[in-house]
This record gives sequence, structure tokens and C-alpha cells, in this order.
Amino acid sequence: MIVAAVNAKPSIVLGLATGGTPTATYANIVEDFRAGKVQFKDVTSFNLDEYIGLSGTHPQSFRYFMQSELFDHIDIDPNNTFVPEGGASDPASHAIQYEAQIAAAGGIDLQLLGIGHNGHIAFNEPGSLPSTRTRVVELTPSTIEKNARFFASVDEVPKTAITMGIGTILEAKQILLLATGKGKAEAVRRSLQEAASEEVPASWLEQHPDVTFVLDEDAASEL
Ligand code: GLP
Repeated sequence: MIVAAVNAKPSIVLGLATGGTPTATYANIVEDFRAGKVQFKDVTSFNLDEYIGLSGTHPQSFRYFMQSELFDHIDIDPNNTFVPEGGASDPASHAIQYEAQIAAAGGIDLQLLGIGHNGHIAFNEPGSLPSTRTRVVELTPSTIEKNARFFASVDEVPKTAITMGIGTILEAKQILLLATGKGKAEAVRRSLQEAASEEVPASWLEQHPDVTFVLDEDAASEL
């Protein structure tokens, strides 16, 4: 779907996600690029979020993840790959600037999303309203614990992040949410079957006219 979208619009603006879920998607994109099926030289990308306090060279930063999983293997212009800067000296104003950069690029055409166990999207934790924009947020203890698997210990996981807001995400023209595994089944069910509310941030996606959930059987098992 992503490769088809890039081929349909070579200057597409992609919204990209990190986490364990999209790694297979990125591997497939790299494979298609190597097979000559797609080019990224006119593509612009904006990542959803980044940990505050981790510079782009930190192996657990989302910038590092994107370089090693995708950007370093395709022909995207490095100047056109945007990830919030975790090392920014003033994260709050950087967040405002990031939002302006998205607008200046003409907005996001296709936004890729994962989903947290508690229904978060990007780092919009429960309590996030659909009006939220790119900003500094505190991570919940459960998210810190879940993401500790990527760090040497839970104490090393940053407690704050810069994230696109729900409002920023809802402005993407098209949204593709990926979820795999039983651990996501409840969050998927609540997002799709409960009335939209701040309790389950992904449920705000119900307000968007063009959202696709791509689920494996486990993630779909409560539907
Ligand atoms: C992180 C990211 C989200 C991601 C979620 C789920 O907290 N900020 O964008 O969707 O984790 O990650 P995973 O795919 O590893 O389950």
C-alpha cells in the first residue's frame, strides 16, 4: 500500500512510525526499492515522535531506528526526512516548529501508525484530546515499561517525548494503522467498537474519513 501510494504520487508526504510493528513493512519497502519497483527521491517523511534526551545517534532513538530500518537503504533525500529532535535545547518550541514544517510541506498524505497496548497512537497517551498538536508529553508508566525491552534497563527509558498530536494525525489525508499480536487485541477492539474518547486515543480515528486497520488474526481476535 505504501509503495503503491509512492508510485501514484512520487512527491508524497509520508507520516512514519517506529516500534516493533512496522519493521516488516520497512523491510518490504527496502526489498521493493532494491528490486527497482519504487523510488523515494522526491518523497518527504515526518516521523510521529521521539524521546526527549536522546540524540539521533543514540541507538534507541527513533531517528536511529529510521536510519537503520529504512532511510539508509533507500534513495530518500536526507534533508527531507524529519524526526522530532530529542536533543533539542527547547523541546516545546521545537515541537511548534515541527508542526509548522508539516504544514509547510503541504500536510501528510499517508500516515502509518502502530498502536500501544493502552490504545496510544504516537505518544498520545490516554487523556489526549483530538485537538492536541505536536507537543511535549509525559509517558505513562505502562508505556515506559513496555518500551524498556529496547533499553538495558527500565531506568534508561526517557520519561518524556515530543509527539505529533491527535489533531496533527487526524489531518493526514489517509491513515494506515498496523497491529499484530494478542497484546493489541483489546486496544484494537476498544478503538473500533467503543465511542471515541480520550480513554483510548486511537478511538479518535473514528472521526477520520479514510482509515485502514491492518491486523493479524491475534490483534483482530476480540472483534
Ligand atoms: C511506541 C510508539 C508508537 C507505537 C507503539 C507500539 O510507544 N511511540 O508509535 O505504535 O510504541 O509499539 P510496538 O509496535 O513496538 O508494539
